[in-house]
This record gives sequence, C-alpha cells and structure tokens, in this order.
Amino acid sequence: MERPDRDDAQPTGPQVDTSSPNVARMYDYYLGGAANFAVDREAAEKALAVTPEIGRFARMNRWFLGRVVRYLCDQGIDQFLDLGSGVPTVGNVHEIAHQHDPEARVAYVDVEPVAVAHARALLADEPHVSVTQADIREPRAVLSAPGVSGLLDFSRPVAVLAVAILHFVPDSDDPLGVLRAYREACPPGSYLALSHAARITMSEHEARGGQEVYRGTTTPLVLRTREEIAALFEGCELVEPGLTPINHWPEATDEPPTNGYGAVGRMR
Ligand SMILES: C[S@@+](CC[C@H](N)C(=O)[O-])C[C@H]1O[C@@H](n2cnc3c(N)ncnc32)[C@H](O)[C@@H]1O
Repeated sequence: MERPDRDDAQPTGPQVDTSSPNVARMYDYYLGGAANFAVDREAAEKALAVTPEIGRFARMNRWFLGRVVRYLCDQGIDQFLDLGSGVPTVGNVHEIAHQHDPEARVAYVDVEPVAVAHARALLADEPHVSVTQADIREPRAVLSAPGVSGLLDFSRPVAVLAVAILHFVPDSDDPLGVLRAYREACPPGSYLALSHAARITMSEHEARGGQEVYRGTTTPLVLRTREEIAALFEGCELVEPGLTPINHWPEATDEPPTNGYGAVGRMR
C-alpha cells in the first residue's frame, strides 16, 4: 500500500497557499518539524545549500527565545504578546512561562494559517493562552483582537516578543513605527525582546544566496546591521549584556556567533 504523502496530514483550506514557499513552514522544517509542504522543504534545502548557517540560526534562535522567556519570568513578567509566534515546536513560550507561573498569559499572533491551525489544535485545552491570526504590521488590529485585548491586561507590564520576525518587515512597512505602536500600548516596566538576522560571519555570497531564496516567499528577508537593529529598541533601556549575537545572550560562549542579534529592552 502506498504511504500517504506527509503533506496530506497538514491543515489545508482556501487560506493555505501551497503554491509558494512560506517562511513559517520553512523555519519549521529547519527545526525538524512536520508542518511543511514539499514547496517549503525544497526552498529550505536550497537556502541551506547556499547558507548552511540558516539551520544553526533557527536552532540558536529557539534557544535564545527560551532563555529570554525565563529571564522575563524571573523579572516578574506574567503576560506575553508573541508576535510572529510560528508553528508550535519544542520550548513554546507558554510551556516555559507556565513552569514559572501556571497563571501566566500568552497571546500568540501569526499570519500564517498553518502555524495558526497547529497552534489552535495544540492549545485547545490550554487555559490562559490564545492564538490570533493577524498581520503584526497592523498593530491596532492585533491589539484589539479578542485573543489579545481579552487576555492581556495592558494596565500591567507585558513582554512583547518579536523574535525572528522583523527581518520579514521591510523598511517600507516601517518596523520602527510598528514597534512604537505596541510600545505605546504597554505601561513602563514592560519589555521588548527581539532577535533579527544579520550578516556577522556569513560571506556576502552566502547572505545574497539566502536572500535570493527568500525572495521566492511572500516575505523576503531583510538583513539589517547591528546599528539598525539597535535602533529598533527605541524607547527601551537594554538589559545586560545589551545587543549580542543571539547565541551569546545573556553570556558569551566559546561558540562562534550566529548570524543574528538579539536583546531584551525594558520600556521607559
Ligand atoms: C522565523 S519564524 C519565528 C517563529 C518564532 N517567533 C521563533 O522565533 O521561534 C517567523 C514567523 O513570523 C511570521 N510572520 C512573518 N511576517 C508576519 C507578519 N507580518 N505578521 C504576523 N506574522 C508574521 C511567520 O509566519 C513565521 O511564523
């Protein structure tokens, strides 16, 4: 008997575009997940062939996210707005936060229908967690969505997570203005945690090759400089150790830096 194609197990529907690769599903593939289609796997393999570093970036980024959430929990944060949350995988934000505080609230937001469908299926019985399908470039719509405004109390500190998403927001979509709108919704003492792809050890050739593959997705990849990424923390004071390669936060290791910067900022 023929084995059913693994793609048959994926949520489909009018919103799921399987004709072109998608960054959420490619990222899932790098992390060893199954929420991806042939078109995503093909693009991901092309990207890995020219930029092998992408796989390490994905794993290190996930590791960074975990450390950041633990740090924020230690600061007493019990509300998270996870922008571009992706397909659920190991070490999800609510799992880490609930180890610290089972009452912690986590609002996941992603635009990709497959990521949202997987998250909803996983979290159906999970209290204090919501999943909203929305475009983070529309902060008003995100902030007023029932899954966000009905779950998070914006009169108390919130952690806004923008982890590995702003490199999919080009300057023409005003990433600074987008972040400002979220910041303005949060009281002082809230946090912004962010990671962003950058060229640190990659050659120009590798960077361009990777970007070329991502141009075939709905969200091309923008690499920003350290200074440009630091500027995204407008209105925040960076906590120690500041903006570092993601695998060196909060402590440098002997490992070479990954090609992405990350930091946590406390909103003033
Ligand atoms: C590389 S994944 C990162 C997932 C997760 N934040 C992490 O760091 O493990 C980027 C996610 O951002 C989502 N995304 C990209 N552009 C978006 C947008 N404009 N609005 C909402 N989500 C977006 C993608 O669908 C994808 O799930």
